[in-house]
Amino acid sequence: VVNIRPWGRVADLVAITGGRDDDLGQLIDEAGPAAIADLLVAEAQQRLDPQPGLSEVVIGLTISHAGRHHVYQVTFKDDQATIAPGAPAAPTVDIGYEMTDLARLLYPAHPGYGSASRKVRVRTWPWTAPGGDITEEQLQEMAQTGEITREELARVGRDRFAVLAAAIHAVICACETQSQSLSDLAIKYGSDKWGSVHWYTQHYQRNFAEVQYDPLRILEIGIGGYNYESIGGESLYTWQRFFPRALVYGLDIYAKPAVTGPRIRAVQGDQNDPAFLAELGAEAGPFDIIIDDGSHINQHIVTSFTHLFPHLRPGGWYVIEDLHTAYWPAFGGNASPGASGTSIALLKDMLDRLHQEEYLDSGHPDVENPSHPSEIVLYHNIAFLRKGNNLEEGIPAWIKNRASRWTSPGESR
Ligand SMILES: C[S@@+](CC[C@H](N)C(=O)[O-])C[C@H]1O[C@@H](n2cnc3c(N)ncnc32)[C@H](O)[C@@H]1O
Repeated sequence: VVNIRPWGRVADLVAITGGRDDDLGQLIDEAGPAAIADLLVAEAQQRLDPQPGLSEVVIGLTISHAGRHHVYQVTFKDDQATIAPGAPAAPTVDIGYEMTDLARLLYPAHPGYGSASRKVRVRTWPWTAPGGDITEEQLQEMAQTGEITREELARVGRDRFAVLAAAIHAVICACETQSQSLSDLAIKYGSDKWGSVHWYTQHYQRNFAEVQYDPLRILEIGIGGYNYESIGGESLYTWQRFFPRALVYGLDIYAKPAVTGPRIRAVQGDQNDPAFLAELGAEAGPFDIIIDDGSHINQHIVTSFTHLFPHLRPGGWYVIEDLHTAYWPAFGGNASPGASGTSIALLKDMLDRLHQEEYLDSGHPDVENPSHPSEIVLYHNIAFLRKGNNLEEGIPAWIKNRASRWTSPGESR
């Protein structure tokens, strides 16, 4: 039985940020503004980068709706950055957003949606920045008595200003979706899809640029970390960040209780078990994107494709990574040209299905089979297959009728 923790309001929110203000406001009122504020903060927390080198900076984050204010404390301390409920006693800075605006900033329907409501008020200098907790007055006095030079005084001011700016910038980056390359995100979250073993992010970025801001449902087979319970999820975190409105499922044969996120669900199951895959598809699908980065055993790749492709939305994409195992016997691969049962053989079959209308008579692929691609994009070791009926008539019937009688190319003349 597939056991997936429900998404709750986040699924409604990511869908509705692409719609009217009235509907967004109504959702907030129905769910309760405090609950939605908590949800938005959980998303921001996930994106908040620690600022190593800051000894301590505290920022008040206020989310307002219908005249009511929901206040949180953002703390940068040592190598940690946390957001907790409640107003800070003595914040260095206050940052505020309208709740509807913050929802659209976190889950933007368009790239470059900018804040219309952000308010940043600097209350004081960050006294706990490098230079210790010496106050401005003490510093001025030290400069007057010659204990420090005026140049040193200016340098302390400049350093403190940089600290403040870094902390404010980190909060804004956490609250407002900024465009970052998928390669940068893969490096940030430790996914091997770029930079060391594989070179896939450039292809993902290119193929998925047009749907990046859509409210997608994504399933990746293979969470990572194998039987190490606390390891894995690197690519799920990458997707969660790259697709700001996506709900992201990860599937692994091992339980991954430590892999969590506001828009991430880790599911345990076998990618080679048809009954489980059917249940997963029925419960979590239909998906917009399915990525197979699991065992890379050829038979598993074929089973997963056969049973999950039907749960892909028309127009959605099925991605198969690590095609090199098609040639490796240890993974059930076979390097001979006519080999069957491998991922590459599956792709060759899909190429035939793409051209199903061009068969003259015998050997026509099964047109009733729901596993039809309308687009196939192949790169070194990674394939993207787009689902869609491919029933468009290509070569006109009168030419095919004649061609079926030709026995040599010369007859066409
Ligand atoms: C290459 S790692 C996934 C890496 C991850 N997608 C990433 O990019 O960070 C492969 C994962 O597939 C899982 N796996 C192996 N066999 C599986 C199966 N039969 N069903 C589901 N997952 C499986 C392993 O436990 C492992 O965690």
